[in-house]
Amino acid sequence: MAKEKTQYVCNACGATSPRWLGKCPSCGAWNSLIESVPESASGGKNRLSAPQGYAGLANAQPVTPLSAIEATDVARTPSGIEELDRVLGGGIVEGGVVLIGGDPGIGKSTLLLQAMDALHRKGLPTLYVTGEESGAQIALRSRRLGLDNSQVQVLAEIQLEKILATVEATQPMVVVVDSIQTVYSDQLSSAPGSVAQVRECAAHLTRAAKTTGICVILIGHVTKEGALAGPRVLEHMVDTVLYFEGDTHSNFRLVRAIKNRFGAVNEIGVFAMTEKGLKGVTNPSAIFLSQHTEPVPGSCVLVTLEGTRPMLVEIQALVDQGGPSPRRLSVGLDKDRLAMLLAVLNRHAGVACADQDVFVNAVGGVRINEPAADLAVMLAITSSLRGKALPRGFIAFGEVGLAGEVRPAPRGQERLKEAAKLGFTMAVVPKANAPKKAIPGLTIHAVERVDEAMNIVRGIS
Ligand code: TYD
Ligand code: MG
Repeated sequence: MAKEKTQYVCNACGATSPRWLGKCPSCGAWNSLIESVPESASGGKNRLSAPQGYAGLANAQPVTPLSAIEATDVARTPSGIEELDRVLGGGIVEGGVVLIGGDPGIGKSTLLLQAMDALHRKGLPTLYVTGEESGAQIALRSRRLGLDNSQVQVLAEIQLEKILATVEATQPMVVVVDSIQTVYSDQLSSAPGSVAQVRECAAHLTRAAKTTGICVILIGHVTKEGALAGPRVLEHMVDTVLYFEGDTHSNFRLVRAIKNRFGAVNEIGVFAMTEKGLKGVTNPSAIFLSQHTEPVPGSCVLVTLEGTRPMLVEIQALVDQGGPSPRRLSVGLDKDRLAMLLAVLNRHAGVACADQDVFVNAVGGVRINEPAADLAVMLAITSSLRGKALPRGFIAFGEVGLAGEVRPAPRGQERLKEAAKLGFTMAVVPKANAPKKAIPGLTIHAVERVDEAMNIVRGIS
């Protein structure tokens, strides 16, 4: 019965079909048909075919000049977990929908259970809906976290309609759905976790959040390809998207805001996974440095800016004799950018790696998106190629352009000060970032071109 109610809509052109087809008959796109619930008869069709305009279908609504609308700032409720509040832009927002994505086992459930408990202790009602684990498993985790008499309400349920009915009846302030991929709606026949189900369920939960003012937090697993199940189908629907980053083998976890309607993006929260759950790291600037006793070739420390905080990250490179088609691999850095930097090195600094395998890695599983990493990547590569370590206490940052020029990085002074604070003594930076006033303990080499940087390094290592 439920089956007859659904239709298949093409993601690319919007054409509908009663059956699933591999290829859209209308626009020819492959694999673009997704199951969905059709709008009620009066909704969809009439509107498109109304010959006399829209007046007969609905009354015109009043419009308001922007200046006459009162601009109220959103009220935020801090969760009590400082690093989480930082990425949320200050706290949980009424009616806000947050999507938290990340690899399995990275700590999504742990963090949210801790946050819900913290909210509950402040007297704010919360509901934790679990489809992944049983109530007993959640209880076990809460004991492990030292939350023995936690009053967080738990619902082990995966059917959307039942979840929504429970939310309506219990009226919590925050609902966590762990995870959105396990929830299914009776309205659709496709399996839980399919794009159609995930999208439909998230849409219903979003609507519920907006109409009731309850904050909804959706946990989503990231698939192997790095997208949340379904090609990022949820990101546009929600207000805030947070991703967990970091290596599951290391203790540190980063939570990055990649979209936030209520705050800054690219802000990160840093946590350490401990015996008793996730603990915020308030001063994270040095956690992505590996501890070499002696400087080693192929390593360069970068000062990157994560949100509002400067952080030092070790960039490692290994350049090795390659086969007929040399490999370029990067972990935590952009692969296309690596290819570009190798071309610039060759053309503008006379460093040729065409017949070499090149591997680069940002230590600790951190992902670096800013172009200011360019100079450090290039210096790590040259250092590995020459087999010469950069001096102890050396840092670099700066964007490199296709013409071989070194462009300034935002907030250079702050980066340099942080490096000096952590005991670094020598820096190669873009000319425009050179401080007017000397920074005690730090020797600064300001460069305009990439070959200048290479020459300086050749002179000191
Ligand atoms: P979890 O929150 O279940 O991950 P997710 O929901 O993202 O899949 O985290 C599970 C991992 O965290 C697991 O490998 C064990 C570890 N862990 C700790 O190290 N300390 C703890 O106190 C807890 C609860 C988990
Ligand atoms: Mg989990």
